[in-house]
Amino acid sequence: MATINKNYDKLQGGYLFAEVAKRVKDFIKRNPEVEIIRLGIGDTTLPLPPVVIGGLSKAVKKLGDAKTYTGYRDTQGNSELRAALLSYYKERDVDLNVEEIFISDGAKTDSANIQSIFGLDNIIAVADPVYPVYVDSSVISGRTGEYKNGKYERLVYMECNEKNGFVPKPPEGKVDIIYVCSPNNPTGAVATKKQLKAFVDYALKYKAVIIFDAAYVEYISDKSFPKSIYEIEGAKKCAIEINSFSKWSGFTGVRLGWTIVPMDLVVEGAGKGEIHRLWARRQSTMFNGASNISQAGALAVLSLVGRKECKKLISYYMDNAAIIKKSLAKLGFQVFGAEHAPYIWVKIPLNLNSWEFFDKLLEEAHVVATPGSGFGAQGEGYIRFSAFADKKNVKKAMESIKNNLK
Ligand SMILES: Cc1ncc(COP(=O)(O)O)c(C=O)c1O
Repeated sequence: MATINKNYDKLQGGYLFAEVAKRVKDFIKRNPEVEIIRLGIGDTTLPLPPVVIGGLSKAVKKLGDAKTYTGYRDTQGNSELRAALLSYYKERDVDLNVEEIFISDGAKTDSANIQSIFGLDNIIAVADPVYPVYVDSSVISGRTGEYKNGKYERLVYMECNEKNGFVPKPPEGKVDIIYVCSPNNPTGAVATKKQLKAFVDYALKYKAVIIFDAAYVEYISDKSFPKSIYEIEGAKKCAIEINSFSKWSGFTGVRLGWTIVPMDLVVEGAGKGEIHRLWARRQSTMFNGASNISQAGALAVLSLVGRKECKKLISYYMDNAAIIKKSLAKLGFQVFGAEHAPYIWVKIPLNLNSWEFFDKLLEEAHVVATPGSGFGAQGEGYIRFSAFADKKNVKKAMESIKNNLK
């Protein structure tokens, strides 16, 4: 008799964005004539730069010719792309070995799947608020225990609040795996070298592993902030880095990411190279490599022209972020983030919770944002605006909030 994975029953509610979509759909049903402005989900809106389209198109054409057709390739990724990523890291004085780079279909899958190479008794720490995937994948894998009084019993929460500038400190006691995301989704906060060093020191002390999600590092505009955890001394012994082409080159639909598993990484009972070997084994068993078309597109992103063109995409979204931040601040909202990340984390001024304010914003201003409480208990009382939108719509949304929010 087959049984189900009962850990799924421990997940809280639906996936956050599914609930947002449900409420928006219900609003549209009741108000079919109203135009909604979506600043909720972190999904890119601008078309891909011409050089990237060129790279993708060339790869498509190759598939149509018997002489250049390719099927399954190296599961770990196109060697040219991995070499280009090696140079990308060298720009920040991070020396990697091409074997340490694993190309994937995106950061979301890797940030969840990486757990499969670690013991089920490992204690996981996450920031609160947090990108929900780290929590839900921990729940599904059976590492969190039951959900009681707003928390999972075995999950360790690292609080992010105004006092710590929304960058958490490492946990007080010993944990085994720590998810760190900088620049951060949802708060838009960015960690300094000193703050990341505290995590590296902690991980080295307790032989813990940091899973560093770097999906937004290209939004960092100030060179003093680290763009890779490996800029911190000792990080190769204790950190895995996950990154993605989604947010800085418009690949949310194309799909491509990568993960670095250093040879030097060690944990209890596993010496140098062992974790790398496990991830290689996991990927070759359960993954058949990223799309060869996407990989050709990513190579174009990493070209000189590609990098320049993608910078323009980032500037566009960050202009939006600045407009949102400035407009809301002018209306008296307390506003965070938006400087090194395309997210604006806004404190709700009224005596309303995040979902109540979400509904108010939708009903009165016809603007969709994402309730902070959907990212964790500490997100209650906040709402997240995403800068991934058409500039005209961003301006319209800000006008509507100014004129219609009671
Ligand atoms: C922090 C963070 N990591 C990863 C992802 C997903 O990236 P990908 O599109 O590569 O799966 C997102 C998407 O919103 C994100 O916010």
